[in-house]
Amino acid sequence: MPDGPPVPVTGSAVAPVAAAEPPLRQLAARHDLDLGTAVNLTALADDDVYREWVATQFDSVTAENEMKWAELEPTRGQHDWDRADELIAFARANRQTVRGHTLVWHNQNPAWLADLPADELGAVLKDHVQTTVRRFRGEIRQWDVVNEAVEEDGSLRDTVWLRALGPGYIADAFRWAHEADPDALLFYNDYDVEDVNAKSDGVYDLVQELTRQDVPIHGVGVQAHCSVERAPRTLRENLGRFADLGLHTALTEVDVRMAMPADPVKLEAQANVYRSLLRACLLTPGCLSFTVWGYMDKYSWVPGWFEGEGAADILDENFAAKPAHRALRDDLSFGGPSRRD
Ligand code: XIL
Repeated sequence: MPDGPPVPVTGSAVAPVAAAEPPLRQLAARHDLDLGTAVNLTALADDDVYREWVATQFDSVTAENEMKWAELEPTRGQHDWDRADELIAFARANRQTVRGHTLVWHNQNPAWLADLPADELGAVLKDHVQTTVRRFRGEIRQWDVVNEAVEEDGSLRDTVWLRALGPGYIADAFRWAHEADPDALLFYNDYDVEDVNAKSDGVYDLVQELTRQDVPIHGVGVQAHCSVERAPRTLRENLGRFADLGLHTALTEVDVRMAMPADPVKLEAQANVYRSLLRACLLTPGCLSFTVWGYMDKYSWVPGWFEGEGAADILDENFAAKPAHRALRDDLSFGGPSRRD
């Protein structure tokens, strides 16, 4: 938990415009939309201005890394819940919900997993899913149960789980999670599925089959790691077909990167992409949340992962609001008084 009183968002490094405006979360409430951000736990502890923005502007938080398996169980049988608990306490103190991210994935798994014989993997995965979901029972509104299990061509991704357990591991993971917390909303989550394309067709077929089998899946998370050069064009149609299956949707990891250096034209183009992503969600019944994968460029994962690209978030390195922030604020400002006020 942060100690000391929160620092007001009025330092010289902060765009004054942001301090004077109603918080984004208050605007989002008019639409019954949860506005979320991924949280960098180190910045949350060390950077007062960062912490204050998270607390005041967002009504949902996702641990950027601390609920991934490698972080939770670095040594087999020895869990480290401290960092995840810190975020949950922070969320509770600020009346925020938590998105759990993520239970079953091919990345950021503990190293010891690689030493296990294949015939132990099913039991170990079940134990991981249920221990984790039970540990946070009642604290997590949405869980990303299975992350990135589909290839670009729509087939199932060749992962340790598919090889050891066969395609049924996906349905099993949802059933295990549901047993452990029947109230949590359970999501399938993936990237490059903003548009109607071969990959989102694969995800569509997968979740349609799961719903046919009465597997407890409640939603599809569209990560929406986008770039100004490749803006989604059919997101609304795509979200709509998932809604037609009776599923919730969510934009779970929004950012919009650009080739560096940033310039005013790219920043306006970026604002347009943010706006169109938000609009697609607002226009889709059952699109529950819009979560950015970090809200300020200083702590963004993008420069470390996409060579030569960056400036992907709605605030710049100094917490100054970019055109993308204005775009979100303007669209969220439409609508009547908040239903949560
Ligand atoms: C990223 C984090 O942002 C980085 O800090 C980490 O080094 C790697 O993972 N899809 C996901 C997220 O589901 O968990 C990833 O997060 C980004 C892509």
